Amino acid sequence: MAALDDIVRNFPDSAWDAAPCERAPTTSVEHLLEAGHVLCFPHLPFELTAAEQRFLTPSISDGHAKNISLRDDGSIRGASGSPHDQRELRDMIVRFSQQAQHLVDRLFPHYCGKLRAAKASYRPMQVEGRATSWRKDDTRLHVDAFPSNPVHGVRLLRVFTNLNPAGKPRQWRVGEPFPEFVQRFAPRLTPPLPGSAAALRALRITKSRRSAYDHYMLQLHDKMKADLGYQKAAPQRDVDFAPGTTWVVFSDQVLHAVMGGQYMMEQTFYLAPDKQLYPHTSPLKVLEDLMGKALLPAA
Ligand code: SIN
Ligand code: FE
Repeated sequence: MAALDDIVRNFPDSAWDAAPCERAPTTSVEHLLEAGHVLCFPHLPFELTAAEQRFLTPSISDGHAKNISLRDDGSIRGASGSPHDQRELRDMIVRFSQQAQHLVDRLFPHYCGKLRAAKASYRPMQVEGRATSWRKDDTRLHVDAFPSNPVHGVRLLRVFTNLNPAGKPRQWRVGEPFPEFVQRFAPRLTPPLPGSAAALRALRITKSRRSAYDHYMLQLHDKMKADLGYQKAAPQRDVDFAPGTTWVVFSDQVLHAVMGGQYMMEQTFYLAPDKQLYPHTSPLKVLEDLMGKALLPAA
C-alpha cells in the first residue's frame, strides 16, 4: 500500500509512445497504480503548436462549464470562439487523448484492450478563487464520485498534464491510503433508502441506476468534503506538479485536492475492477470486505 511519504513515484520517460531513441521507457507498473501511487513523469510535456498558444486564456471557455471537454461523439463542449477556433481546439484535445492512450498502453500492458477511453478535457481556468458549493469544491480532499454518473465499481484512471506557460505548478494535496480512510469513515455510512435508486433514475437525476457501491462512494466523497476537521488534520501532503509534468492516478482511490494552478489537460479511462492485476485493491472490494456484502446487483 502506498504510504504518504512515497506516494508519488517519478519516472524519467520523455516520450508518450515508446520512441526507439528513448532509454528504458517505463512499462508494467500496474501494481504501483493499484497500490495507490501517483505515477509522475516530470519530463513528459504536452506540446502546443504556435497557433494553439492562443488558447492559453480563460476567455476560450464559454463561461458556463469549468472545463472544455471532448465527448465520445467527437464534439467539444464549453468552448467559445469561432468555428475555426473550436475545430483547432478539438484537434488539440484529440491529440492529447491519443498521446494519453499511447502512454497507458505502454505503462499498463495488463490492461491492454480493457481500458475504455472516456472524456478528455482542457482546463484553462485558474483554480484559486473559484467559487463553488462545498460538494463541488475540489480544494477539499476527495475521491472522485459523481452524483449523476453511477460507475458500478468501474475504476477511474486519469492522465493529467500541466501546460502552464508561466511556470505555475498544479498544486495538489494527497491523503491517506483508501483502506485507512474507509475504516475511519465506515461508522458514519448509512444504507440507501429503499426505492431511492429507482426514484433517482425515474427522475433522471442519475444516468443509470445508482448501485449500493455508487451510493457509498458518493457518501464517502460528501462526508469527507463536509468534514472540515478531517480536511485540516487528516494525514496528507502537498504535491506540486510543475509545467511539463504528466501524472497518472486512480482518482477513485487516491484522496486528492487541487489547491492551485491553471491550464491542464486531462483524459479519463474506465477499467472494470476484475481486469485489474490485483482486483482486491479496488474500492469495490475494499468496501465489500468491510461491509461483508455485495455492493453490486447480481449480473
Ligand atoms: C480533481 O479531480 O479533483 C481536479 C484535479 C485538478 O483540477 O487538478
Ligand atoms: Fe477529483
